[in-house]
Amino acid sequence: MKRFLIRTYGCQMNVHDSEKISNLLHHAGLRPAAAEAEADLLLINTCSIRDKAEHRLYSDLGALRSWKSERPRRVLAVGGCVAQQEGDTLLGRFSHVDFVFGTHNLRWVPSLVEAALAGERGVQVEETSSPERFDLPERHPAYAGERVGRAFLTVMEGCDMFCSFCIVPRTRGREISRPAAGILSEARALVARGVREFTLLGQTVNAYGRHERRRGKETVAGTLGFAELLYRLTEIPGVTRLRYISPHPIFFEEELIRAHAELASLCPHVHLPLQSGSDAVLARMRRRYTAERYLAIAEALRRARPDIALTTDLIVGFPGESETDFEATLRLMREVHFVDSYSFKYSPRPGTAALRLPDAVPAEVAQERLERLQGLQRHLTFEAHRARRGQLTEVLLEGLSRRGGRQWMGRDPYHRVVNLIPPPGEPWSVGQSVRVRIAEATPHSLIGEPLDVGQAIPFEECATGIA
Ligand code: 5AD
Ligand code: SF4
Repeated sequence: MKRFLIRTYGCQMNVHDSEKISNLLHHAGLRPAAAEAEADLLLINTCSIRDKAEHRLYSDLGALRSWKSERPRRVLAVGGCVAQQEGDTLLGRFSHVDFVFGTHNLRWVPSLVEAALAGERGVQVEETSSPERFDLPERHPAYAGERVGRAFLTVMEGCDMFCSFCIVPRTRGREISRPAAGILSEARALVARGVREFTLLGQTVNAYGRHERRRGKETVAGTLGFAELLYRLTEIPGVTRLRYISPHPIFFEEELIRAHAELASLCPHVHLPLQSGSDAVLARMRRRYTAERYLAIAEALRRARPDIALTTDLIVGFPGESETDFEATLRLMREVHFVDSYSFKYSPRPGTAALRLPDAVPAEVAQERLERLQGLQRHLTFEAHRARRGQLTEVLLEGLSRRGGRQWMGRDPYHRVVNLIPPPGEPWSVGQSVRVRIAEATPHSLIGEPLDVGQAIPFEECATGIA
């Protein structure tokens, strides 16, 4: 029996694509390898969001020449965003790569593997606008999934926004929503397998259904809007936590804000990419909102759900970003009080509109801004953590903590990492929910004390963090 291994770079979408590939390979009769030395097949699922991510592929491929030559019948494949972007040039440049598959072609992986084992090299990077690409087989009985108790659920793919810095519309193709019936039935099947927490995935996830609804193609995607989809999912018994990534501010409609007020199982955490707090920079980024509009969404969310935790993505050093523009970003960060953020230096990407913008920011200025921004974020995160001391919450266990010893780690409904130690004689398992009191705050995580069984509190109270 052939053994495979997948190396994954990039966003959750890629992590989930790797899960889908893994499931397809299980259906094709392959099984996972414990280590690369044992693998007959190695797939690299690549990311090209910034040039560093893309270069990682090239250095990996260089290092894998010896892996391949140790056993020439081994198969090496490249998928994901760089594969979509580069196509067959990868086969030309790297003679030890057997096949290349794009972001719309996951279901062809098993046949590409078969061809490669027969000595044929192949490329499959066509884009498709058909919702059939969402029709993937159910989980194979031997495939447990890597995230016990939790699962990703694809609701839409692609992006039509064309922000001027972003390569994603080129690597992930046009925006397409998955028929609601398929999403709901996958959720039901996963609940039956013990999944309790669902993270809905899409590049602009809250734009879900907008094209299909406009065309009235009820049989294609149903006529559901994103908020309606959330309501329908929370009606499924067993769906106790619902999250979604990543929404775009311009599709953040009233109904979605109301859903946060009304749905107890919709987690009080929203990751809402801001990118910059300066209107001039936002306009050049083609983000189609202003800092004021962003703030209005944050405030409306807070009125709907006073304990909501907001996190974001930020870019520094975008062409033309002045010190004043940058300070507007810092000001907005303080005003929204982001609990956390991912921040990046602008990285020019092939084929994007921002390449033509003048006034590049010098590398050392961008670096200095990144450090100042991250310093502010550390302060905001620690402050948010300290404010949680004494609160009650519920932690979904993800596994043993990297800190070692008997310590476990999990996440609360706000998506914060909580470290905790099981009471003596209580055997814990991954995917289990534990009620805790937040005892301690650290800069990066929280420390929880499990409550006695007698102190159990209802989930809704946990989720609102009532002390
Ligand atoms: N340079 C730097 N950061 C980028 N991102 C997307 N494209 C670029 C780029 N060219 C960031 C954005 C986005 C996150 C996923 O990656 O902040 O929200
Ligand atoms: Fe990229 Fe903008 Fe689309 Fe997000 S919304 S994937 S940043 S183009």
